[in-house]
Amino acid sequence: MRSPMPAPPSPREATTRAVARGVPAPSRSARSDSWGCRTESSGETGRLGLLIGRCLRGGETLALSGDLGTGKTTLVRRIAAGLGAPPRVVSSPTFVLVHEYEGRLRLAHADLYRIEHAAELEHLGLDDYLDDGTVLAVEWAERARGALPTDRLEIRLAHVDRHRRDIRLHATGPLARALLSAIRAGWPAARTQRTSRRQTTLASPARPGGQVRRRSSAR
Ligand SMILES: Nc1ncnc2c1ncn2[C@@H]1O[C@H](COP(=O)(O)OP(=O)(O)OP(=O)(O)O)[C@@H](O)[C@H]1O
Ligand SMILES: [Mg+2]
Repeated sequence: MRSPMPAPPSPREATTRAVARGVPAPSRSARSDSWGCRTESSGETGRLGLLIGRCLRGGETLALSGDLGTGKTTLVRRIAAGLGAPPRVVSSPTFVLVHEYEGRLRLAHADLYRIEHAAELEHLGLDDYLDDGTVLAVEWAERARGALPTDRLEIRLAHVDRHRRDIRLHATGPLARALLSAIRAGWPAARTQRTSRRQTTLASPARPGGQVRRRSSAR
């Protein structure tokens, strides 16, 4: 008679054994709250955006940061496409601070590059976008200082070279953590997925596209 299979080790036992083998044990926060990837092209960053759009459930805040040209807008455009927002052509969007995309959920896309004083944020009315049927995506989120919800998915983009970007995601609350967990589970398949022609034409304005919500001086 075959002897019964040994029970699999508990997570705690597995960690203890890994540490005994010299493998550093990830902390709980490192495991569940942070994740990152390196993209090799704008198309690949776009595939991450599509995936994020498909994983959104409503009520999330996406706080994007990173130097000029790291790909924040590229990512948000594809998030809009992942939400099923229709294609838009916006002729002169450079001086618009918040745009709305209507897809499966409403996506409010704010660009705070021109924000210099905290008082200016009040005029933007970002609080109006904090509801379950809306996702708020904010470029240059560090300029919002304390004005964003404490539960948010922070997305930091950094240049590696001309075509490559390091993208780090960090969840600061339960809503963002659920989103992050769906993204990390979906990324291996999404990364290699071919993008259809229709998908590449969705939501493709140069700067945030959709209904104009607020305006400011030209950048
Ligand atoms: N791996 C990549 N991911 C994203 N964009 C890339 C990548 N490789 C090259 N690019 C290019 O970098 C540029 C990113 O521009 P984008 O407007 O998205 O940046 P941004 O971070 O929003 O800049 P800004 O701070 O001016 O708003 C695009 O021209 C894009 O094609
Ligand atoms: Mg941008």
